Amino acid sequence: MSVILSVEDMRKKAKARVPRMFFDYAESGSWTEDTLRANINDLMGIKFRQRVAVDISERSTEMEMLGEKLPMPVALAPTGLAGMQTADGEIHAARAAEKFGVPFTLSTMSVCSIEEVQSKTRDPFWFQLYVMRDRDFIDRLIKRAKEANCSALMITLDLQVMGQRHRDIKNGLSVPPKINLPNILNLITKPKWCLGMLGTKNRKFGNIVGHVKGVRDMSSLAEWTVNQFDPTLCWDDVLELRKKWSGKIVLKGIMDKEDAKAALNIGADAIIVSNHGGRQLDGASSSVSALPKILDIVQDKCEIWVDGGIRTGQDILRLIALGAKGTLIGRAFLYGLGAEGEKGVTRILEILQKELDLTMALCGATDLSQVNKNILL
Ligand code: GLV
Repeated sequence: MSVILSVEDMRKKAKARVPRMFFDYAESGSWTEDTLRANINDLMGIKFRQRVAVDISERSTEMEMLGEKLPMPVALAPTGLAGMQTADGEIHAARAAEKFGVPFTLSTMSVCSIEEVQSKTRDPFWFQLYVMRDRDFIDRLIKRAKEANCSALMITLDLQVMGQRHRDIKNGLSVPPKINLPNILNLITKPKWCLGMLGTKNRKFGNIVGHVKGVRDMSSLAEWTVNQFDPTLCWDDVLELRKKWSGKIVLKGIMDKEDAKAALNIGADAIIVSNHGGRQLDGASSSVSALPKILDIVQDKCEIWVDGGIRTGQDILRLIALGAKGTLIGRAFLYGLGAEGEKGVTRILEILQKELDLTMALCGATDLSQVNKNILL
C-alpha cells in the first residue's frame, strides 16, 4: 500500500474499501455538481504571497472556536451516514477528534445514536439538528442531546427539501443496502467493510429508528427525507428552537446577507457559511466566495465559520486569512474514516495541520490567530 501524504491519497484508499453506494453518497453533489466543484476550485484559485527571510522558527496554528482553544480552527462537520463509511464510524471519528482536541459534530442522520457516541467518548461533542415535521420528535432529540452533554446545537437550515443527487438514485442508496445482485457483487469486493458491519449492531439511523412512531427501518434516504424534513420551517421556528437550548447555538447554511442578519437576530453564537458541500442548491456560489459579504454584515457580532471544498491545510489558511474564525471538514475526514477508521481520521487531521503550519511558515506567518489578507496576493 502506497504512502498516504494527502487527503487525495486517503480518498483513493477509501474508494477501494467502501461500498460504492456509500462512497458515492459522501462524494457526490447535487445535479451537475457545479457548486461542489466551485467550492474546491475557488479555494485553490486564491494565491499566497511567498515571503522570505522572516524568523518563522516559533509557530502556532492554535485558535478558538466557541471560546474553546483548539490546536487548529477545524471541526468535524456533521455528515450523514458516517457509520456506513466504516462500522461504528461516528464513534471512531469522535474518538479521533477528541484525541486530537478538535470538536466532533454528530449528525441527526448518523448511524450511531447520540447515546451510543456519548457512551464511547469522554468529551462533549456537538449535535447537529435537522428540523422535521414531527416536532415532538425534535423536542425529544434536543432533550437527548442535552442529556448527552452536547456542548453546542448546530441547526442545519439548507435542507428543507433535498437536492437531487444523481449518484444516490442510480446506486439505489438505502440503509442498510438492499440485497440484490449489483450490491452483492460490489460488497464481495469490500470484505473488511463487510466484516466490520457484521460485528456491530449499528446499521441504521440510530437517532431515528425506534424513536419515531412507525419508523422501523429506513429504505430510501430520499424518500424518507421527502416525508420528514419540514418545508414550512421559518425563522420563528428557529427562534423557538433557540429558546429550547440554553447552550451555544450554531446556524448552518448561511450564504446570503439577509439570512446572516436573521441569524444574528436569533442570537447565533456562530454561523456557518455553507452550501452543504454542493449537495443542495447546485448553481449556488462557492462558500468561500460568499464569505466576504457575510463578513460585512456580521463583522464580529458572532463567529463566522466556513465549510465546503476544504481538502488541504492551505485551504484552511486561505479561509482564516479571509476572515473566517473556523472551518469544518466533511468529506476530508470521511475519506480517512472509510480508509482506516479512527486512525485514518487522525491521519487526516495530522496531514491538514502539517500543511497548515508549513504553508503559514512559507508565507512568513507565525501565529494563525494573527493571520489576515496580507498573506494573500
Ligand atoms: C445530509 O446531510 C446529506 O447531505 O445527505
